[in-house]
Amino acid sequence: MAAYTTETITPTYHEAIVDWQKRNFPEFQFLQDNWKKFYPSQTPYQLFAKVGKLNSEQIQFGRMTGQIRYENAGDMVGNMFYTARDIIRAQASTELGSIQQHRLTLEEAPTDAMKMAVLRIMAEELRHGYQMFWVFDHDQSWKKPGHPDVAKDTMDELLAMQLGNHVLDAFNIPFHNFLDNVIFATVIDLVGKYQLEMQRVFSYAPMGRSMGPMLSEEGFHIGSGRGFLKELAVAALGDNARFSISDIQKVLNAWIPRGVEMFGNERGGETAIAFGFKDRNNGTAQSEYYNEVREVIELVNVAVVQARVKDITAADARSVVREVQDTGESVSGVSTNDLLFVPDIKFFRGRGLEEIVFMPYDVHGNLITENNKPVSGERYLDYLKSVIPAYFTKTKDFEKFQDGMLGRERPEAGRSYGW
Ligand SMILES: [Fe+2]
Ligand SMILES: [Fe+2]
Repeated sequence: MAAYTTETITPTYHEAIVDWQKRNFPEFQFLQDNWKKFYPSQTPYQLFAKVGKLNSEQIQFGRMTGQIRYENAGDMVGNMFYTARDIIRAQASTELGSIQQHRLTLEEAPTDAMKMAVLRIMAEELRHGYQMFWVFDHDQSWKKPGHPDVAKDTMDELLAMQLGNHVLDAFNIPFHNFLDNVIFATVIDLVGKYQLEMQRVFSYAPMGRSMGPMLSEEGFHIGSGRGFLKELAVAALGDNARFSISDIQKVLNAWIPRGVEMFGNERGGETAIAFGFKDRNNGTAQSEYYNEVREVIELVNVAVVQARVKDITAADARSVVREVQDTGESVSGVSTNDLLFVPDIKFFRGRGLEEIVFMPYDVHGNLITENNKPVSGERYLDYLKSVIPAYFTKTKDFEKFQDGMLGRERPEAGRSYGW
């Protein structure tokens, strides 16, 4: 028995999404034409909503624990209704935004397999966008009598979003080279996995039913990212490497803080739990995420050591990685410069706890000081430019960070991020 049933949305919005795809993702046809060749054992791609099963009919968290989940959005009242809308809107925006980002550097894929994987990721994100449209579209009760048509307004807004006005910062950063595609799939799609997992309990049932099928597709995105990151890090040992370890490190330094921030303020997220939308608060999910990123990067390092030291087992390679990183000394010809690391959770933060945001922490989590005081914003920006890629410092996102750092904009530490 299939784990889900399939549904299409009303023709107007189905066609609007196909239209969107033609404008934002014309390479889709190439994926369709070559699917069988690259993924012979996988069901061909189709654009539809997949409606999975709930693990329980009841609400499992928050104020309404034990009640039957909502089938109709219109039965949710006040803030709950709009918070649900905001989460679905943010989710849809990430799906569409990431397609626009991946496309910028798609043609730079070093191998056909990498290009196909990115195309497949883009197509699956399109399906995820379609899925969120289904959530809005199939339920007439989003339109409450005497109120604006929340579903229609939100879908129209989503179809018009471009890089620069997506809901979450990480989806407004243009990709510059293929490392962005790979590292984004590794660390940003992983945030997506955490969000989807948390939202399995969603008290509005159609959203809860959407999570399982989306999660299984996310597995491919994350797996592709990790596999390619390993390939590129191992290739960095060679003479004609496209990217050096230091190139890769700088891209990690830029994206990991964006992933960490996507969880929202570390002390927040209680409202989403109270409404039964999620099963964990921001801080818990963020620290689980951060630990997983560390494990992922350690496994990349293990592959690097295994490529470098003949016949070493994975377990011994892991010990070498840890010893090199703990002591800073070379072991078996491997030095810290050959390995990747995860920047400290306090590094390069423009959102989150007040005591961290816009504070000059270095990649290792040490506060950079001068005369026992944190260095000025200008000094920290200079430091940042030495540890992240130059192209990142020219983005609108960095400009915003710079404005915050220089005190032109007050940090909004407690503000909800809508996801
Ligand atoms: Fe997705
Ligand atoms: Fe994804």
